[in-house]
Amino acid sequence: MSSIYWYDQQFIPAEAVRISPQDRGYYFGDGVYEVYRVYNGRLFEPGLHFARLARSAAGIKLALPFGEAELQRALEELVLRNEVSEGTVYLQITRGAAPRNHLFPADARPVVMAYCNEMPRPAAAMEAGIRTITLEDTRWLHCDYKTLNLLANVLAKQTAAERGAGDAILHRGGTVTESSASNVMIVKDGRILTHPADNLILHGVTRAVALRLARAEGIPAEERAFTVDELLAADEAFVTGTTVEVTPIISVDDRPIGSGVPGPITRRLQMAFARAIGLDR
Ligand SMILES: Cc1ncc(COP(=O)(O)O)c(C=O)c1O
Repeated sequence: MSSIYWYDQQFIPAEAVRISPQDRGYYFGDGVYEVYRVYNGRLFEPGLHFARLARSAAGIKLALPFGEAELQRALEELVLRNEVSEGTVYLQITRGAAPRNHLFPADARPVVMAYCNEMPRPAAAMEAGIRTITLEDTRWLHCDYKTLNLLANVLAKQTAAERGAGDAILHRGGTVTESSASNVMIVKDGRILTHPADNLILHGVTRAVALRLARAEGIPAEERAFTVDELLAADEAFVTGTTVEVTPIISVDDRPIGSGVPGPITRRLQMAFARAIGLDR
């Protein structure tokens, strides 16, 4: 864990952070968050993260207590102060502390907290791929807001782990949405398919980057929902996310995807992604 936090617009040691037991994040999950990737000591796609954060905050009627430039300066300084080179930044903003009441408090101030961690890229999973299970998506209808309400995601991930899988792929009545903590893409006949960026999925930063890179590589990519049956019949499948980057899915509910090993288009995207972050693999 990083030793310096950005808390209440100041840089302070981790031990000095004081979160009130009355915080609405704690009571209600009443807040929003972002997880940024840090490559080579630099924030990855901060503009896309800010746009999503602003959208999430507006979605829950929370006024952000900072602007884009101020936030970026603060998070860059956080990374510098903690000397993180390859890692993540976690940022969360709750509606503040107030006696428990569902109604918004009149006078609470948003509580802002950010820290960063050293975290290597997930080389082993990116190389070998992961096994997955499918589960019904039981979340609310605003999965496009990145809120602290993650209990359904937590339960899905835990169920996957208990069944010996790396992640759970969620579906609504047979239509695949995303996974517990990443977006899902399939490849069929040379085309990439992924769920449209509507209210049923998180609009992943890595998803947007992967679509951009695929198109630049000349790989057709369509934002169109697909079913669990289409997933099982896909030539390739992979997840995208800040911490997982582009990770192949090698099986779903114990059935191999394609030939059961990471496929060529997934590999091409992984290489394009590595080049985009200034690495050669
Ligand atoms: C539910 C969910 N979907 C998708 C993603 C991927 O988003 P991003 O690429 O911005 O990390 C995440 C990331 O945490 C997530 O929690």
